[in-house]
Amino acid sequence: MRNTGSITVTKLHSLFGAEISGIDITRPLSAREFGPIRAAFEEHSVLVFRDQPMDDDKQVAFSDLWGNCETTLSANPAAGTKFARQSNLDIETGQPIPNDDMRMIYQKANYFWHSDSSFKKTPSLCSILTARICPPEGGNTEFLNMRAAWDALPPALQATIHPLVAEHALAYSRDRVQKGILSAKALAELPPVKQRLFQDNPINGRRALYIGAHAHHIVDWPEPIGKALLYELAYRAEQPQFMMSHAWREGDVIVWDNRAVLHRATYYDATKYKRLMQRTTIGGDRMTVPQ
Ligand code: OGA
Ligand code: MN
Repeated sequence: MRNTGSITVTKLHSLFGAEISGIDITRPLSAREFGPIRAAFEEHSVLVFRDQPMDDDKQVAFSDLWGNCETTLSANPAAGTKFARQSNLDIETGQPIPNDDMRMIYQKANYFWHSDSSFKKTPSLCSILTARICPPEGGNTEFLNMRAAWDALPPALQATIHPLVAEHALAYSRDRVQKGILSAKALAELPPVKQRLFQDNPINGRRALYIGAHAHHIVDWPEPIGKALLYELAYRAEQPQFMMSHAWREGDVIVWDNRAVLHRATYYDATKYKRLMQRTTIGGDRMTVPQ
């Protein structure tokens, strides 16, 4: 496809999500071509592109348009690269990894609603996930609109959480799958950080509730009470009408706004099918609260 510079934006859900067509994002894009894509992202939070066969180099070129790629930490099989690999295939051999292997158990934390890199001092802007090999059934990725979740909170609860700060760490979400799964090195790399309970979009001002599986308790509150508040907020956010589920096809690319949505993986039969998704994560430019 030649890039003519005009894209088509088709809404996927009444609240968020849009499919972008009419552009080949596997080719280098000019600033003029990228501008409308970036604007659609600020507005719709989840952008779906179809029939965009990516390899790693093309994905990095597309990712560089959004900002600086994060580098993965030692917890990921592709540590020290720009790629978080979501797959049941061994990175060296390409063969399926047994279900009871730590690498598979580790990925199960993706079943919890989360925002990528909320455990970093400066949380991420967005993630870009590309479908390289898809199972014929299962393995959808789901998104939860946290602007709608914020808007639906009673005003008194919004006022209560406005000044609060939550503590986030990768270890908290991983411990929910299997205690002690992170190496000492991974733990040392990722001490807990603080995040506000909302993020405001700098372009349009839309406020989104900012929680997710890495959030553990509220700073300066007794731990059980803070956890209970986080559970309540998650419960209030998890409304079916705020959710969108994406059934992947090979060649799909999704860019999601980690400031405005939570996402989660869903089950597929990893003993029967292959799945290979490559994620790049674009670093944000601001902390939500001084550390
Ligand atoms: C991710 C993630 C979900 C999935 O890549 O950050 O959570 O469906 N992936 O693989
Ligand atoms: Mn994720």
